[in-house]
Amino acid sequence: VRAKYLAQVAEAADEPAIEAVRIAALGKKGEVALMMRGLGKMTPEERQAAGPALNALKDEINAAIAARKAALAEAALEARLATEWQDITLPARPRAEGSIHPVSQVMEEVTAIFADMGFAVEEGPQIETDWYNFDALNIREEHPARTEMDTFYMHRAEGDERPPHVLRTHTSPVQIRGMTARGAPCRFICPGRVYRADYDQTHTPMFHQVEGLAIDTDISMANLKWVLEEFCRAFFEVEGVELRFRASHFPFTEPSAEVDIRCSWEGGALKLGEGDDWMEILGSGMIHPQVLANCNIDPEVYQGFAFGIGIDRLAMLKYGIPDLRAFFDSDLRWLRHYGFAA
Ligand code: PHE
Repeated sequence: VRAKYLAQVAEAADEPAIEAVRIAALGKKGEVALMMRGLGKMTPEERQAAGPALNALKDEINAAIAARKAALAEAALEARLATEWQDITLPARPRAEGSIHPVSQVMEEVTAIFADMGFAVEEGPQIETDWYNFDALNIREEHPARTEMDTFYMHRAEGDERPPHVLRTHTSPVQIRGMTARGAPCRFICPGRVYRADYDQTHTPMFHQVEGLAIDTDISMANLKWVLEEFCRAFFEVEGVELRFRASHFPFTEPSAEVDIRCSWEGGALKLGEGDDWMEILGSGMIHPQVLANCNIDPEVYQGFAFGIGIDRLAMLKYGIPDLRAFFDSDLRWLRHYGFAA
């Protein structure tokens, strides 16, 4: 019996075959089990010899089964390892990698530079009420700036009682929100998207600005000029960036100045700090007393400067890109050409 079953175990080629041998030998009606049952009819002497022998036989068959199972598993693993292999010396397949869009990159750089100068960051909604976008900034209903800014108005259903909403035309409404929330003194910037119905080489209907302002008891245009010059030096990383302050008008600043940067467009290439062209990059001025008052800041005690910079213009200048519209075409060839994508 012993030799028969050990031979069968050794020959079993898979798990079911082993299980069949186990049942035939050790199962309830298996041969060894039946022999165990026979112990009852033996004399005590016979039983003393046969009992341990049968138990040893049972253990031996069980051990043989376990060993056979382990050997089969090992062989199966070997077989898998032999077929499922990877050649790790093969070169990897190239994988297209995303990259930061130049406008996002410039936003981050600008934010970091102003953060170093102690400016906090404030954000506001892109859909604004006409109060925040216009009225609070001294741009009243009849003011020409309302139409000059080519505002996108949100559609209003008949009977809609809510105030008119617009796609914000500048980041200045965030001035109002920030000043009202923070009170004076304060110093913060507001980067974000803005919208105007305008489209040519240097205008797109969606573009980006960063607003900045500082309010305290002794702020002047001199502080404004220093901050802007310091910013340009840090941002463009070139000596001899030249700024031109041009008297201008904004309803929310008095006095106001627009600031241009010296550049050249020779042969379609945009260069900075040379040539006879000036590109407007920002509007600025001393915050109008009425605007301070609209934000519950006492204009008798506090003054402040404010500016709004065109982020996309900065990106054009920094990377020498002559057409703003290309920024928003999502053309990979263009992005690659300027090194913005792999
Ligand atoms: N909001 C103005 C614009 O978009 C820019 C500006 C901001 C001017 C702050 C003065 C002060 O044209």
